[in-house]
Parts: sequence; C-alpha cells; structure tokens
Amino acid sequence: MQQVDFLVIGSGIAGLTYALKVSQQYPDKTITIITKTREDETNTKYAQGGVAVVNDLENDSFEKHIEDTLISGDGLCNPHTVEIVVREGPDRVNEIIEWGTNFDKNPDGEFSLGREGGHSEFRVIHHKDVTGKEIERALLAAIHRRPNIRLVTHCFVVDLITQHHLGYLVTKSTPDIACYGVYVLNLETKQIEKILSKITLLATGGNGQVYRSTTNPIIATGDGVAMVYRAKGRIENMEFIQFHPTALYQPGESPSFLITEAVRGDGGILRNIHGEDFMHKYDARLSLAPRDIVARAIDSEMKITGTEHVYLDCRHMDIDKFIHHFPNIYEKCKSIGIDVQKDMIPVSPAAHYSCGGIKTNEWGLTSISNLYACGECASTGLHGANRLASNSLLEAMVFAHRCFLDATRKIDSITFEESVPDWDARGTTVPREMILITQSLKELKQIMSDYVGIVRTNVRLQRALRRLDILHEETEDLYEKTEVSPQLCELRNLITVGYLIVKGAAFRKESRGLHYNTDYPYKCELVQNIVL
Ligand code: FAD
Ligand code: SIN
Repeated sequence: MQQVDFLVIGSGIAGLTYALKVSQQYPDKTITIITKTREDETNTKYAQGGVAVVNDLENDSFEKHIEDTLISGDGLCNPHTVEIVVREGPDRVNEIIEWGTNFDKNPDGEFSLGREGGHSEFRVIHHKDVTGKEIERALLAAIHRRPNIRLVTHCFVVDLITQHHLGYLVTKSTPDIACYGVYVLNLETKQIEKILSKITLLATGGNGQVYRSTTNPIIATGDGVAMVYRAKGRIENMEFIQFHPTALYQPGESPSFLITEAVRGDGGILRNIHGEDFMHKYDARLSLAPRDIVARAIDSEMKITGTEHVYLDCRHMDIDKFIHHFPNIYEKCKSIGIDVQKDMIPVSPAAHYSCGGIKTNEWGLTSISNLYACGECASTGLHGANRLASNSLLEAMVFAHRCFLDATRKIDSITFEESVPDWDARGTTVPREMILITQSLKELKQIMSDYVGIVRTNVRLQRALRRLDILHEETEDLYEKTEVSPQLCELRNLITVGYLIVKGAAFRKESRGLHYNTDYPYKCELVQNIVL
C-alpha cells in the first residue's frame, strides 16, 4: 500500500502541467504520476496543428477568440469558461515555454501563426506539424528534473476508491461521495495495488478507440470517464464526439494518421472523388468552416459519390513552404507513394475528440470530493457542442492551473482514509480465451461506427443500445469471473463510454454541433447539457 499527497492519473499535457505546478509549490509533499503504458504514449504526443492563443493584439483580440469558440460550440458553451480559457491562455503558454517548449518563430522573432477551421484569425502557435511531440518532450524533461515527482509507467488504474469500498451504499444521489485513492494493476507484478491519496487528478485523455476509425492512439479508451461513472460521479454531453474531417485514408491502418487542419488554413482545398471542389455547397467559410460542418459535408459527398474518401488538394501550394510547415505530413505521404506536389491526398473523417466528459466546475473539481479532472477527459463547458480547433491543449493548461490553485486551498484539510481494504481477487481465474475480449471490442467499434457516427437516427441509436446491452452483460460476467487485465478493463470502460455516448445522443431531441440526428434536424430553443 502506498500513500501520496497528490496522485495524478495520466502523463499527457494535463497531468504533467498540473504535477509540475504542485511540485514547485510543495517541494516537501509527495506527487505520483501513473500512466498505463510508456510515459509519452498520449494523445498529446500526436497533436499537430498547435495551440490556439491570442498573442498578436494588433491583429487579433480576446473577444474574437471568444466569439469563434462560442460560434463553434453552437450555443452550448459556458461563456464564463470560454472567457477564463481565452484570457488566461497566454500566461499558461508562457509557462510551458519557460519549461522548455519551442514554438516556431518568423524571421522577425514573432510567433509563426497558423489558421484552422472556425478561427477568424491566424492564431495557432505550433512547432512544425509536431506540436504535441515537442510539448510532451519538454514537459517530461521538466518532470524528470523534479525530485519530489515519481512517474510510474505501465500501471493501469482500474477503479477509484470511494465509500463504496468501505461497505457503504453509494448512489447518484449520495451527497458527499469522496475519492480516497485508486486500485492499480501493476503490469509488471500483475498484482493490484492500493494507492491512497489526499487529492487525485484524472487526466486520462479521450476515448477515440470506441470507434473503428480514429486519430487517437490505443491508450484513448475513456478510462477516467468510465471510472467516474462507476463511482456515481457526473458525466455530461458525451454525445458530442468530434470527427476530424481529414484523416489520411489508408484502409486497415489504425490509428489513422492526421492531416492537420492547418493544411487547409494554408490553402489546401477539399475535392470529391471527381476532383470537384464541393465545400461551397455547404458553407460560405468553405474548407475552413467549423469541423462539424466540414465532416458532415465530406460524409455527404462520400455518400453521393459512393466512395470511402474525398481528396485534399495541395498541388497549388508553395512546396517549400509546405515542407517547412508540414515536414511530418510530407514525409508520411511520400512514404506511401503520395507526392503532395503532384497527387491529391485521400482523406476521410475519423473520430478525434470527446467534447463532453467528467463534469467539472470552474476549478476543475468533479462532483466527487478530492477528485479533479482536467484535459480531454473533463467537461468544463469550453467546447459546447463542437470544440474549436486547437482549443484543447489550451484548455488542458488553463484547467491544470486552476485544479492546482483549488487543490492548494484544500490539501491541508484532507487526511488519508486508512480503513480502505485491499483489492479482493478471490473467486477469479486466469482468462483462457482472449478472443472473447478481442471479438467484443471489434463488435463494439462496429456498432459505434455504424450506428452512432457523424449522422444519427432514432432507429440506429435504439439498435446500438440493444447491442451494447448484450456486450455489457457478457463483459460484466467475464469481469466478475476472471483476473483483471488491461484488455478486459479497457473493453469494459469502452462499453461504458459507448453507452454514455448513445444515451446522451438518445436524450438529445435536436441536432446541434457535432450531434446530428435526421429525426430531429433542428436545434431546440431550450439549450441544455445532458448530464448522466
Ligand atoms: P492525453 O495526452 O491523452 O494523456 C492521457 C494519459 O492518461 C496517458 O498518459 C494515458 O496512459 C493515461 N491513462 C489513461 N487511462 C489510464 C489508466 N486507466 N491508468 C493509467 N493511466 C491512464 N489539440 C489541440 O489543441 N491542438 C492540436 O493540434 C491537436 N492535434 C491533435 C492531433 C491528434 C492526432 C490527436 C489525437 C489529438 C489532437 N488534439 C489537438 C487533441 C489533444 O491532443 C488532446 O485533447 C490532448 O492532448 C489531451 O491531453 P490529456 O492530457 O487530456 O490526455
Ligand atoms: C489539427 O491539427 O487539425 C488538429 C487540431 C485539433 O484537433 O485541435
């Protein structure tokens, strides 16, 4: 059994930023970061476009960034959260620069700014087309310089510990659910360990792996959301899954390689299979309309032409500039025989970002005491019904800071809950047929992709729910009888996430932002968050 003052689950931008702040403030307290695979295997590492932030106050303004975020969120953003993130963003960006992150600059010393869908100005700071890799590198290096941070890899957090584990009945209406720590599967020893903490931060990232085609790496299995739901905490707006319009079309390849929206910001044009420019039929902002609109337009063109992809045409763009800004994309295309100067890039939408998640307040606190959530797993109110491109790295930094501030106000009044029992594995046996898990995962992805994708209907959602019920029942049975493994836990978590997405989608009797149901093609006048 271990005891730590501050426990952090996740080593992406959210978890690392928070841990660095806590460590600087409390050199004498213990901080443990847990991550389920390698330390850098995160969604953060794959971020391409960059961080949307207002720097150039001569040509841009906070008001414009706020307005763009609100428009993209389609009426569902919390305006107070939007103000907070946009206005506090520049200070947080300066901090990660101080910790060693490099962003590209122009010869005049100013940031090189990219533009993405839904942005009225060029305001996305970046490191070539590998911004996330650079951020992850710099933050991990800073973490390794801090003596009071322990970074533990290859440990899988299975569940949050609450009063439920002390033998009390905990329901959604229990008023004071508290988190006392976590049960963790150590992948080296294969043992489940108990870690008690005073304050826990969930920074577990997204859930793209619930779909067949996704830009997210395999760690993105919605574990944090599923754990909070099991612990009877509040989850909201899960129906808003963002499909990135332009993932490289490579059948059988998973995860899908992203072609950043910044390529369209620099002039890339979407064309259908016949080479026809089509965005003018859907939105006056053409290829730079918000993501929900562009993804639906591509989906519609693919259906009209009966194909599985469209094209991104970059042939007219200055090749030297292209290679300078997008060296990773240039090389990737070249490696599969696509010369961006001569060939169009085949692209199709892929699941990319979860706009909803664990409901938090303006300090990142969840509905469970002593438990914070930050980054993609959280629902802060910033994104509403559709996240504005490159707002998530910014949100993670701003809320990591806010979680840190609130935690400092509470830490000294919290004590360890010593009476938590050890994990009880009696009655379970070693799983004999992994195929039961892998096949169910395939089925889950199929269900979600076929029935809960970009365009939804009531019949498809009902069908998905019935099939998820069967998968849920079979998987819970397996979970009770067999020893816990990461594969089984991830399947179980993904089924919960799938269920929350379908439930949210079924409750929402309208089309708004990323949720489009042909049975309710219009927006309701009553604007509401769906809390489960
Ligand atoms: P992550 O970076 O995903 O980290 C999650 C961490 O949690 C990992 O360390 C994981 O191991 C750990 N974890 C999860 N479950 C468990 C468990 N059960 N036990 C132990 N550890 C666990 N956003 C932008 O703003 N700009 C961009 O340009 C951009 N480009 C993107 C490009 C791609 C291809 C992708 C996939 C996303 C992009 N995004 C972008 C989104 C952005 O990268 C993510 O939203 C953000 O990085 C999430 O950070 P995070 O810290 O919340 O989670
Ligand atoms: C991209 O670079 O297109 C992704 C940006 C984002 O998801 O915010």
